[in-house]
Amino acid sequence: MTTDNLKIKHNKATLGNDVISIENLLDEKLFYYDPGFMSTAAVKSAITYINGNKGQLLYRGYPVDKLAENYEYIDICYLLLNKKLPNKNEKNDFAKEIIKLNKVDNDTWTFLESLNPNSHPVGNLMAAISFAASKNHNKWSLKIDSERKQCMMSLISQMPVFVAACIRKSNNLQIIQPRNDLNYIENFLYMCFDNSNIDNSIIEAMDKILTLHADHEQNASTSTVRMAGSTSTPGYAAIVAGIAALWGPAHGGANEACLNMLKTIGTIENADKYINKAKDKNDPFRLMGFGHRVYKNYDPRAIIMQKICHKVLQQLNSDTPYFKLAKQLEYNALNDDYFINKKLYPNIDFYSGITLDAIGFDSKTFTAIFALGRAVGWAAHWLEMFNADDFKISRPRQWYNGPVEKLID
Ligand code: SDX
Repeated sequence: MTTDNLKIKHNKATLGNDVISIENLLDEKLFYYDPGFMSTAAVKSAITYINGNKGQLLYRGYPVDKLAENYEYIDICYLLLNKKLPNKNEKNDFAKEIIKLNKVDNDTWTFLESLNPNSHPVGNLMAAISFAASKNHNKWSLKIDSERKQCMMSLISQMPVFVAACIRKSNNLQIIQPRNDLNYIENFLYMCFDNSNIDNSIIEAMDKILTLHADHEQNASTSTVRMAGSTSTPGYAAIVAGIAALWGPAHGGANEACLNMLKTIGTIENADKYINKAKDKNDPFRLMGFGHRVYKNYDPRAIIMQKICHKVLQQLNSDTPYFKLAKQLEYNALNDDYFINKKLYPNIDFYSGITLDAIGFDSKTFTAIFALGRAVGWAAHWLEMFNADDFKISRPRQWYNGPVEKLID
């Protein structure tokens, strides 16, 4: 086996790193080893681009900060699914379609009412969507693009109902049916807090939070949705797989872990002690909400999230100690060689938890809210996968280092 005869093709990317493909790797009886897929482009995608060194995030080419400033989450859903921002009529029709599809059938509603209040909301969310996946497993043909799209429109429409139900259940409260006279965000907050007069500043903050979470290229949960989806499992089932991946504290569970970390640290006086713990190789403690596989500069979402956090705390006249503590930790870390040399910056999860906590959500519900925002990104990638000219079931190979063939005595 030799690498001399490898036929390496250079593929030009429109942005970011170009991609090499080695067409005869298998013929040469070779595999490429890349644990954690640090430098593997597993798919071609036109949805989201991240420039980790510049701290840039684009949804269909548009910078996320400009989108968050000038558009609503429903515009972002339309953009991610339809490759363009909607005009006024397109936005109205899309919003009406989403509201129309949010009706959950009686069996599923009964299942939501049966969810265990003591279970973690993310586990309950997986159960709820699994129930819907099982009930509707052959409702949409995966062979027809329009039906695949309908499946994902239904999911995006029902996610606020499922997530709000899991949030209500975690507080042992009666779950609430959606109303059709409220928009997507108002409906979600109404179903969470049983209040249809939520302050506009909170509705606006929630809208931006979902926009910032909408997509993030091939992160672990999106890659899981693609991996599961590539077997042609029902669409809702592929989303459940993605939520399982998101739940982990190294990924979407970091917002919950970050607020719990701030509660443990408690006061600004303890900041230095915990920064030192985070630097200590022998201490399992990590600064949650810090660091990122791709961003080696500020996560642009963290910058916007901090501003949203500050505005919400001011609006609610909140005296939470966590914002000041988070800013102190950020200041200490960004002036510390360990974090500077390893290019560790705050990520989206560093300030999102404080904001959600101030709005009135319990920390164990944060990842379910992350899933609500990310559902449209998962949907867009699932749909893109099926339409890819090189679509096939995902089945990675391995570097086998086990025993050679043994004969049984
Ligand atoms: C999300 O992929 C995405 O796009 C995800 C996401 C999305 O929108 O989908 O952006 C959402 O998941 C954000 C990340 C949330 N997770 C956290 O905040 C948890 C804390 N962060 C880390 O666990 C870590 O930074 C990761 C998991 C985010 C990234 O891990 P990597 O890329 O595998 O890097 P690594 O663990 O190999 O760390 C490199 C070095 C190590 O030190 P050395 O072994 O080289 O000496 O940096 C250190 C790590 O010990 N390090 C940290 C640290 N993060 C990395 N040290 C202290 N505190 C931290 N938070």
